[in-house]
Amino acid sequence: MSARTVVVTGAASGMGRAVVERFLAGGSRVVALDRDATPLAELADAGPDLVPLVADVVDRAAVEDGLAAALDGAPLNAVVNAAGIYPPTTLADYTAELHERVFGVNVLGTLNVTAAALPHLRAAGGGAVVNFASVDAFAVSPGQLLYSASKAAVLALTRSLAIELAPDRVVVNAVAPGWVDTPGNAATGRMAAVAEGIPLGRVAQPDEVALWVERLAEPGYVTGETVVIAGGSAMR
Ligand SMILES: NC(=O)c1ccc[n+]([C@@H]2O[C@H](COP(=O)([O-])OP(=O)(O)OC[C@H]3O[C@@H](n4cnc5c(N)ncnc54)[C@H](O)[C@@H]3O)[C@@H](O)[C@H]2O)c1
Repeated sequence: MSARTVVVTGAASGMGRAVVERFLAGGSRVVALDRDATPLAELADAGPDLVPLVADVVDRAAVEDGLAAALDGAPLNAVVNAAGIYPPTTLADYTAELHERVFGVNVLGTLNVTAAALPHLRAAGGGAVVNFASVDAFAVSPGQLLYSASKAAVLALTRSLAIELAPDRVVVNAVAPGWVDTPGNAATGRMAAVAEGIPLGRVAQPDEVALWVERLAEPGYVTGETVVIAGGSAMR
């Protein structure tokens, strides 16, 4: 593989961070975008191939300006939309503010980063977008009302964007992880109990998802698809 440039959102933690580490190990230049400046600054110690970009994916102008500055004219080969939030919500406790936050980061954020990246992908003659959906997009997790709906939206926009961007030779796919051992998930305190119910008997490690992200970030003949990475706990 020749030297490539990729942008990864949610780069400071969990699966986004694992994706960054995998791309760096493979020799890519990585624009690591996150709204959380402190862990991003620690990541920057990884070396000159990592370009940190502090931005909120909900802020389209900040993403466009930040990405253009980070790339500094270099073409872009792939986009990984890993930034996401998953606060628990039910019909009993949802609020308009929570709806706006969850759909803002998970759906609008994915659109904003993809739109900001498109001119730079075109400059490379095409490329790949990898979105983060979830098994919650098509299987029901109690207490994830808004999150499930937002990830179903990510599935739908992955398919629509695959068609819309095909003339640009940009493929658009998604991963749908089940339970993964990430800081955000560990905070729920439910991982050990959940592992017992997974056919493969354990939750995934972040790099097991990053492996598939890396594969889907190589432009090929697969577009509009979602790869389920769930140890048998969900199938399509
Ligand atoms: N952890 C899981 O088991 C699991 C399962 C299925 C899908 N997912 C999805 O995978 C993705 C990564 O999950 P994770 O558990 O690794 O996450 P995490 O909580 O460990 O990290 C998420 C990162 O995204 C960043 N972020 C959040 N909102 C942002 C914003 N508005 N702008 C920029 N950065 C922002 C955070 O600062 C953080 O660094 C998410 O989209 C999540 O919904 C997670």
